Amino acid sequence: MPQTSLRLHQFTESVIRRMTRVANQFGAVNLSQGFPDFDPPPALLQAAARTALAGPHQYALTWGAADFRAALARKQSRCTGLAIDPDAHIVVTCGSTEAMMTAMMTACDPGDRVIVFSPFYENYAADAILSGAEPIYVALRPPDFAFDPRELERAFQQGPKALILCNPSNPSGKVFSREELALIAGLAEAHDCFVITDEVYEHILYPPDRHTYFAALPGMFERTLSCSSLSKTYCITGWRLGYVIASERVVREARKVHDFLTVGAPAPLQAAAVTALDFPDDYYVGLQALYQAKRDLFLGYLDRAGLRYTRPAGAYYVLVDIGEFGWADDVAFAEWLAEHVGVAGVPGSSFFREPVNHLIRFHFAKREETLASAGERLMTLREKVAKR
Ligand SMILES: Cc1ncc(COP(=O)(O)O)c(C=O)c1O
Repeated sequence: MPQTSLRLHQFTESVIRRMTRVANQFGAVNLSQGFPDFDPPPALLQAAARTALAGPHQYALTWGAADFRAALARKQSRCTGLAIDPDAHIVVTCGSTEAMMTAMMTACDPGDRVIVFSPFYENYAADAILSGAEPIYVALRPPDFAFDPRELERAFQQGPKALILCNPSNPSGKVFSREELALIAGLAEAHDCFVITDEVYEHILYPPDRHTYFAALPGMFERTLSCSSLSKTYCITGWRLGYVIASERVVREARKVHDFLTVGAPAPLQAAAVTALDFPDDYYVGLQALYQAKRDLFLGYLDRAGLRYTRPAGAYYVLVDIGEFGWADDVAFAEWLAEHVGVAGVPGSSFFREPVNHLIRFHFAKREETLASAGERLMTLREKVAKR
């Protein structure tokens, strides 16, 4: 029989999605894959119900329905301070997942190098392999996840075509400071490199931190491919609506990639989502407060369980330090935890290039009752480890 593509032998199935299956197998509270167990805003659901009857039900324009792009341009122009042209600067994609793949294939040729901060959202390594690019990893060192500017400069000296910036960051919860972003911008300019951002958590960060849109930094719009989505902001991870925003020159090419990858994002859901994109600023204030309350609730349980962790400044994940329990293998620990403590998380090693295996990632985009149930269970962890 013929061999399947060699590219695919370079990475495994997603550990995050596998941990969801492990959670289901053991009936564990699933804090592994980052999706909410509560409903999207009612106004959005009503809009979806209306569109289910009224349509559209056929393909939208391949780079996005006109009303969706217009609403997105209004919202993102307001948030970023940039003048985003719905006809020139936007490609609507199937989630940020496709946006990132489209951006990578638009920016890079096979053999090009791409800077990736480690720890990283696990899709980026696969995106790099699938687009034929070679990652250069730059460490974000726990517990504060700062990078060494000299290490970053050395990475730029290797002539990368692009840098991937996840801000706010999954899994670390890091929010890059303006100074860090300015440093990255300076290096990107000096080495004539694209910056591909993944900003799916642009509205989920905790005061005093504020989101800085990389593309809005002086001179950066032309070299930035900003990827984001509606998944996290409006609690609709299953709708698969995302986008790339970039200069006209770049968008012209990105549309071709997107067209041949997926033809387009779901037409009826784009129509319904216009309602969400037109929400007033209050919505985003409420969203932030909602997640801040969830973060504080869950961290309170971790404190009571005597667990150490890095306090997330953004996104909805926390990395818990399991080093004290003396496990050599975090994957085995995560499986044991799901089976015996009843909480599923993701082994930290799946996010790091370096040999880091003392962290487990939990997410807290869950209802209070779910977080309480997970928290109560985690409070038994110490005792269960001792009895093992
Ligand atoms: C950093 C990051 N990017 C992208 C995604 C996926 O986003 P989407 O649902 O828009 O494809 C996730 C989901 O967890 C994520 O954490």
